Amino acid sequence: MTLSGKQIVVGVAGGIAAYKAVELVRELGRRGASVRVVMTQAATRFVGAVTFTGITGRPPVIDLWDPAYAGEVHVELASWAHAIVVAPATANVLARSAAGMADDALLATVLCAACPVLYAPAMFHRMWGSASTARNVTQLRADGAHFVGPVSGALANGEIGMGRLAEPSDIADALDALLAPSLDLEGRTVLVSAGPTHEDLDPVRFLGNKSSGKMGFALAERAAARGARVCLVAGPVALPTPAGVERVDVRSAREMDAALEARFDDADVLVMSAAVADYRPETTSAEKLKKAEDREALVLRLVQNPDILAALGARRGERRRPLLVGFALETQDLLANARAKLAKKRADLIVANHAMDGLGTDENVATLVSAEGEEALGRLTKRALADAILDRVVARLAQP
Ligand code: C5P
Repeated sequence: MTLSGKQIVVGVAGGIAAYKAVELVRELGRRGASVRVVMTQAATRFVGAVTFTGITGRPPVIDLWDPAYAGEVHVELASWAHAIVVAPATANVLARSAAGMADDALLATVLCAACPVLYAPAMFHRMWGSASTARNVTQLRADGAHFVGPVSGALANGEIGMGRLAEPSDIADALDALLAPSLDLEGRTVLVSAGPTHEDLDPVRFLGNKSSGKMGFALAERAAARGARVCLVAGPVALPTPAGVERVDVRSAREMDAALEARFDDADVLVMSAAVADYRPETTSAEKLKKAEDREALVLRLVQNPDILAALGARRGERRRPLLVGFALETQDLLANARAKLAKKRADLIVANHAMDGLGTDENVATLVSAEGEEALGRLTKRALADAILDRVVARLAQP
């Protein structure tokens, strides 16, 4: 099943072909996808909401104030989706979408998409052939949207012309092609660091931090899925190793430094997502530290750890490879700090996120900071953020 495990939002707009969306949803289900449906008000005149409830197991979303969603329905739907397919996409929906409108649940979800959007237009042939629809399709394509159909054939009133919805199985094939794993990192070696470091005080105590490692593991998983040879240098976390990834477990910042230094020259990219401890205890006691009854306070003397990214940035010098991607996790002055880190560590890209947004969770709100400027990505799953970061990496690797 080619769409196995894929999460697809099917947007149904108000045209006669809306009844074929039912077949599309079934076809996607047959191919292993989970589907959620969002309909325009007009669509409900052509096909019953309850039909979609029956075949997807949950009611379609029709209005932006759907009480079934705790948060904002369009944000939730768009964050969940691996792809959004609008079928049928009417002339009206194409026009509103091209204009960036978000005045109903379907349009707001599309506008919120961080995933591919596929339109399957269906309308009367003169509407499809109109200058304004052509303009809107050109605009949507330029904005990155994909299209399947329309096809030529008998239209609702019996006339023959261009404007029929593509067959549901062809729409499913187009989705499949869109979501097929792209091997754009094939032949590349990606080094990823992940998780916290633990700096030992004695045999049973350490200084650590709240990093879960999820971001780095998502990066390693996605890079491997995109064809890269991946080495994941992981601090102490209990996460499963992603398929096809070589994992090197380390504990302290100095161990992580040694593991990365040894592999740096073979890498095309280093993504430094680990939360490396800036300081470690000056000494690590071989014996468990004892509580002394007469000592009220225990003073720990800490010394600085190597800044791994900065050291590797300096080691790279004027060379352009490996590409260096760092993270900036801040509680204040996020972008200013991220820009400063970009320069200080000689990185190519800094992924900036607020400490409140990503720690330990499956989602993150990030801004990408590079010499070219800043790009706010909004709230994404860590998996989707990993892909967004890797998209930028692929584009940079293509530059000489
Ligand atoms: O300096 P700061 O810790 O805020 O910078 C964060 C970035 O630098 C992250 O990419 C982190 O992995 C890296 N870093 C490092 N070595 C350190 C501290 C941070 O490589 N000792």
